[in-house]
Amino acid sequence: MAILLLLALIMTSSSWAPGLVLDICGLSVDWVPYESWGVLGDGEPWDLRLGLTGFRDHLISTGRTRALEEFDELRRITLGLAESASKIPAMAMRSDSNPVPLFLRHLPELFGLLSQPDQGMGPFGPYMNGPIFEVTDPWLRSWLDALAFSLSGVEAADTPASAMAYVLFDMHREGGTLDYPRGGMGSIVDELVRGIGGVELRKKVDEIVLEEGGERVEGVMVGGQLVRAKEGVICNAPIWELPGLLEGQTKTEELSDFLEVAKATPFTRSYLHLHVVLNSTGLDMSSLRPHYTVFDKGLVGDSEHVVGDSNMIAVSNPCVLDPDLSEDGTIMMHAYCCGNEDYDIWEGWQGGGDRVGYEALKRERAECLWRSIEKVVGEDARSRVVAEYIGSPLTHRRFLTRHKGTYGATPSGLLKNGDTPVEGLVLCGDSVFPGIGVPSVALTGAAAANGLVTWWKQLQSY
Ligand SMILES: *[C@@H]1O[C@H](CO)[C@@H](O)[C@H](O)[C@H]1NC(C)=O
Repeated sequence: MAILLLLALIMTSSSWAPGLVLDICGLSVDWVPYESWGVLGDGEPWDLRLGLTGFRDHLISTGRTRALEEFDELRRITLGLAESASKIPAMAMRSDSNPVPLFLRHLPELFGLLSQPDQGMGPFGPYMNGPIFEVTDPWLRSWLDALAFSLSGVEAADTPASAMAYVLFDMHREGGTLDYPRGGMGSIVDELVRGIGGVELRKKVDEIVLEEGGERVEGVMVGGQLVRAKEGVICNAPIWELPGLLEGQTKTEELSDFLEVAKATPFTRSYLHLHVVLNSTGLDMSSLRPHYTVFDKGLVGDSEHVVGDSNMIAVSNPCVLDPDLSEDGTIMMHAYCCGNEDYDIWEGWQGGGDRVGYEALKRERAECLWRSIEKVVGEDARSRVVAEYIGSPLTHRRFLTRHKGTYGATPSGLLKNGDTPVEGLVLCGDSVFPGIGVPSVALTGAAAANGLVTWWKQLQSY
């Protein structure tokens, strides 16, 4: 039970993980708070305002009485789950799920969680399709799908209830804001790198080396050289790459079984990106939002429609908050389909010599991304292009070593923690927590590091 509970907690404390890790390591990033983002493609453009009243006001002004009632009720039902979980910091987690730090320091919150239906362990389905609660308003159902999808890459009913509860709680609490790191997400990475001290770039780990018998990790092989581990190896490689990294090593039966399961971990679909630099002459920047969610084919419909093929698009427009990012007279924007691009469409082009065909496919598939930028900037958006880059699932495959370009394991496929049958080998990243990128790595990386020290030392660290 404690193990499952940990998963629920990990799912819910994500939003603070990077900040917490930075704080503990004495690092800092310049955060620029903002309170709303734009929603396009769902009737009249609207702003999703964080905090207590913004979203409710929107529902009132658009006459969605039933959605409002059900939204309030849903928040009431899930509040206990979100509140208890939100009081337990990410630093209480350990990759080996040893519950001692939790029991010693967070017992009341644990009891709070245990008193919730299902302890939030299961998917959100019962909270929207019954028996716990039934959401009948079609708009609210679609909105929940959209929220869930940006979190987990799957629809609401299949997203962990604890994660949904936390988002419903956190987005709409009084004083809730979003934080943008000045300089872009890269500034968080740079700061974390500064904390670590030394990071070797462009060096691929060829192999994870095990000690004779395969029970303990010895180190990693990089460029033909063995780097010996002092404490252990924390591996953030996508789980589907793990069998390859351990190829040729003597394996225990337990490890072989583990790798069979790893290979079969279900995963979400891939990405499509459009990065552009636009000439901003004559653009009214004050009317633009820092980011948008765009529904290319509309918001309301069944889950298949909402989270389906290239419908939900995120447009990030950071120059509104951080004008220095781009050269004078220009802005940078990033539009992407996240977790809703099929790899199959692209597979045939892998390693092929037909550059022209590949470029044409990129143009064709990125058309929806251009449409979303036009919705934001105006119809003349394409005439403003200074630079343009399209990233495909193959880009993800090649440069990020992502299995079939995936966004990560689906929630149902996640490991219960980062522990492996090899002593000293700990996993972090998107096989332990949904979504690739900084939040997942910071959270599960901290848990992995905690797993390599005693619980006593862990307690002293936060
Ligand atoms: C942007 O467009 C204006 C007007 O057409 C032009 O004068 C200016 O040089 C352009 N700036 C860039 C960076 O291309």
